[in-house]
Amino acid sequence: MIDVPRPDNATHARIGLAPMEGVVDVHTRALLTEIGGFDWVVTEFVRVVDARLPPRVFTRLCPELMTGAVTSAGTPVTLQLLGSDPRALGENAQQAVACGARSIDINFGCPAKTVNRHRGGASLLQNANDVYHAVRGVVEALQGSGIKVSAKLRLGFNTKQLALHCACAAEAAGASHLTLHARTKKEGYRPPAHWEWVARVRQQVRIPVVVNGDIWCLEDFWKARSLSGCRDVMLGRSALADPWLALRIKHWQATGERLAVTRWEQRAEVLQQFAERLMAAPAPGRAPDKVIVSLLKQWLAIMRQHDAESAQRFAELKRINHLPEMLAAFK
Ligand SMILES: Cc1cc2nc3c(=O)[nH]c(=O)nc-3n(C[C@H](O)[C@H](O)[C@H](O)COP(=O)(O)O)c2cc1C
Repeated sequence: MIDVPRPDNATHARIGLAPMEGVVDVHTRALLTEIGGFDWVVTEFVRVVDARLPPRVFTRLCPELMTGAVTSAGTPVTLQLLGSDPRALGENAQQAVACGARSIDINFGCPAKTVNRHRGGASLLQNANDVYHAVRGVVEALQGSGIKVSAKLRLGFNTKQLALHCACAAEAAGASHLTLHARTKKEGYRPPAHWEWVARVRQQVRIPVVVNGDIWCLEDFWKARSLSGCRDVMLGRSALADPWLALRIKHWQATGERLAVTRWEQRAEVLQQFAERLMAAPAPGRAPDKVIVSLLKQWLAIMRQHDAESAQRFAELKRINHLPEMLAAFK
């Protein structure tokens, strides 16, 4: 373990919870922000093609829109859009705001083939003009509303050649801040994250840049901030692997002390509460038991990558297919 000097108090980080399609839903956002440490969260993306989507699309994905666009813990929720058509993005941003959104983020990172084939997500990083027009479409549509528009980018599509151009394009179009996942689309989720590249981008723009990618522990947090020079960070898979990570970072920054390692009993309690919230959903929209079981396994599979006891529990639980049996195993 490296000896980590504590950053001084003047530079306390703000911490965002990353959008993760199919993983971070309203219940996860509630649970993680109730544990604490997060300053904002971003929803999974709403996919925009050409039509103005009905309000139910926005409120289904982000029920928090109906309660002030904050989670149950009061943490602000940003709604994310994915698309390439500036007019459609603008119209749907207006629709999201009419539904209650208070800030909008645009996705320039999604690596999915179907999304990229239809010119969405990371594929837009192949042409900085496309990034400019997508952001501009939303900024112009929301002009005068006071709603902030941010952009979440990777370092590029196949190469990092256009990283600076794309970031500058988003800034020129009026983005309020950028979140940078420190890898190209081609690099997928493979380590390492290139935090030093985030520094190069940050030095080119005047708006704040949030560093994202592979911040799994206090040491990573310190390195990511030191190498990127960013004040703020966004946590994705690591927030699921250790739901106390954001709080751990905040506590360490405030006091210099390390909180105790998260125990299996604490993790099991989070998984149990997640299942209970899904089970409590009203009948027509309630996920079937087998879906809840697979969501629990999905979360546990992320936990096991960085925790020996979770790995052992995953090996024991992975063959369980009945929800009551799964819940009993968490007790
Ligand atoms: C399953 C999964 C779904 C994701 N969905 C989204 C998404 O909807 N929008 C987005 O901007 N990024 C999405 N991402 C990328 C994450 O927000 C984040 O940038 C990435 O996981 C790197 O951060 P991490 O190393 O902290 O996980 C997704 C990542 C994963 C693993």
